Amino acid sequence: MIVTIDGPSGVGKSTVARRLAQRLGFGFLDTGAMYRAITFCSLEEKAPVGSEAFNNLLQKIRIEIRDGEVRVNGRDISGDIRTGRINRHVSEVADCPTVRNRLVEMQRQIASSGKFVCEGRDQGTVVFPDAICKIFLTASEQVRAHRRALQIGGDTKAEDVLIEQRQRDQRDAQRPTGRLVPASDAHLFHCDDLSEDDVVDRLEAMIREKIDRQPP
Ligand code: DC
Repeated sequence: MIVTIDGPSGVGKSTVARRLAQRLGFGFLDTGAMYRAITFCSLEEKAPVGSEAFNNLLQKIRIEIRDGEVRVNGRDISGDIRTGRINRHVSEVADCPTVRNRLVEMQRQIASSGKFVCEGRDQGTVVFPDAICKIFLTASEQVRAHRRALQIGGDTKAEDVLIEQRQRDQRDAQRPTGRLVPASDAHLFHCDDLSEDDVVDRLEAMIREKIDRQPP
């Protein structure tokens, strides 16, 4: 049983999806972390996207995601994947069809083991077209940039985040496969004027209703 939560960066998907998974007793799959993990390895091993070394890396990579911890071939890289350097390079990795095919396969494999809330860009459209409930979260770009700047902390300015965010939005929306677009049967949910608790409460109610309507 799969619930998908897709949407642009900075909309609060990860937090909302994690909290929903806890409330529903489902596993949580943060697929952005998987693209970030491959980006980290590609940079560390100096294996640029498309090179032979990169393709070898992709063949051998084993990604485990559990309770917010991200491991690659057994090594914990959770603290290394949310840096500015990864942010700048991850779109190039996410554009690569070989990467996408490999990750789609891994995501289906992970989720086949039970009930999952899967969060990303293409979960409702490509990875789990038969999901029981598909949600597409949106918020204005100003609200998203403000939220991201607060998350990063220090003296990060929302105006600076906004510039990088626009570039990533554009790239996410234009990617030939797995681009950021709501599934035709997704619920569009706009979060600007709602607190995080309200978003989680409303989505939980919506998902539970869908689950209750499922034949036994
Ligand atoms: O959600 P995030 O910011 O951690 O995602 C990191 C990058 O990975 C972002 O540029 C979009 C991409 N991504 C993707 O293409 N498909 C997914 N299912 C998840 C993330």
